[in-house]
Amino acid sequence: MNLDPNRLWIDGCFDFTHHGHCGAILQARRIIPAGTEPSALICGVHNDRDILLNKGGQPVMQEQERYEHTRSNRWCSEVIEDAPYVTQPAVLDAHHCKYVVHGDDISTDANGEDCYQVMKDTGRFLVVKRTEGVSTTELIHRILTGSEICGCSKEAVEAIIKDEKLSLYATGPDGHARWCYVFHQNLDQPIVSGGYAFNPARAVYIEGDFDLFHVGHIEQLRALRETSDAGAGARACQEGSKLVVGITSKNPCYMTLTERVLSVLSCRYVDAVVIDPKTAELPLNRHELDDTALRTGRFAYLDRNVIVDRIQAARDHYMQRNARKGVPLEQ
Ligand code: CTP
Repeated sequence: MNLDPNRLWIDGCFDFTHHGHCGAILQARRIIPAGTEPSALICGVHNDRDILLNKGGQPVMQEQERYEHTRSNRWCSEVIEDAPYVTQPAVLDAHHCKYVVHGDDISTDANGEDCYQVMKDTGRFLVVKRTEGVSTTELIHRILTGSEICGCSKEAVEAIIKDEKLSLYATGPDGHARWCYVFHQNLDQPIVSGGYAFNPARAVYIEGDFDLFHVGHIEQLRALRETSDAGAGARACQEGSKLVVGITSKNPCYMTLTERVLSVLSCRYVDAVVIDPKTAELPLNRHELDDTALRTGRFAYLDRNVIVDRIQAARDHYMQRNARKGVPLEQ
């Protein structure tokens, strides 16, 4: 059997596909040394039924949304839909992957058994560091308790600028090469330099809060980015154009500025990010988030309110789910 140590497998529910999941995917990708070809990171994503059965709670984001969101991750080479909840050697063998990668927490199935026991026993299990402070449970808790953050403070901006994750999440598909630019307020001085010569004349700009970053956002970014698509996106983004995303804090947000920036940076359609933009100082061809011309895809129905409504509509279910995870509402 031809197993390639430079073809890695990572699997999960990826509910919300938040920046903690992206961090695990990025760390997995970075296990493969720079310049290794061929190489790949295969992302197995569980279906809704298996999650309900094994995790005892229904995911907030539906399987098609989770598949597509994971597919848009810059470090993911391929998504395998309906990946089995308990990881088996045969699944990795079928994709020629030698190792599975997982965060340093234990995942159990419906019987309380470690989902990776067989992989551990056969020496095919690699560990990466779980990202603290973010989880699906935590995001549900914030929504159930109405914990929104208004505006973006000087401290929040300073924290993200100093965060070493910023340059890591700005890397290219191999998780090593420089790729995205990161700017603060205007285009004067990049905080992170990207892997190409930045030319404002060939950039397309879209601005928004990107709270609970989801496939509704991603579809709009893709529409602007992909030159082959018909419609507003194709007209805006000519061959060789770069997509610059401004991350504002105009409305109260469930995610911190850092979380929103890292989520947007993980998206394969993004070439540069402007944190807390001074829009008037940006000499860029500007598009509006939620422009109807860009909201025409499979996930056009999805926005932040739809996600909040899902959780509110099944409030008891999510309260019980979080309580089982040790995060009761009255915490
Ligand atoms: N992960 C991580 N950091 C987090 C959350 C998840 O590194 N804050 C990793 C997990 O360790 C796993 C992968 O992301 O390797 C997919 O996790 P998933 O199956 O979605 O489940 P959870 O770990 O339960 O994620 P969450 O608590 O957010 O639901």
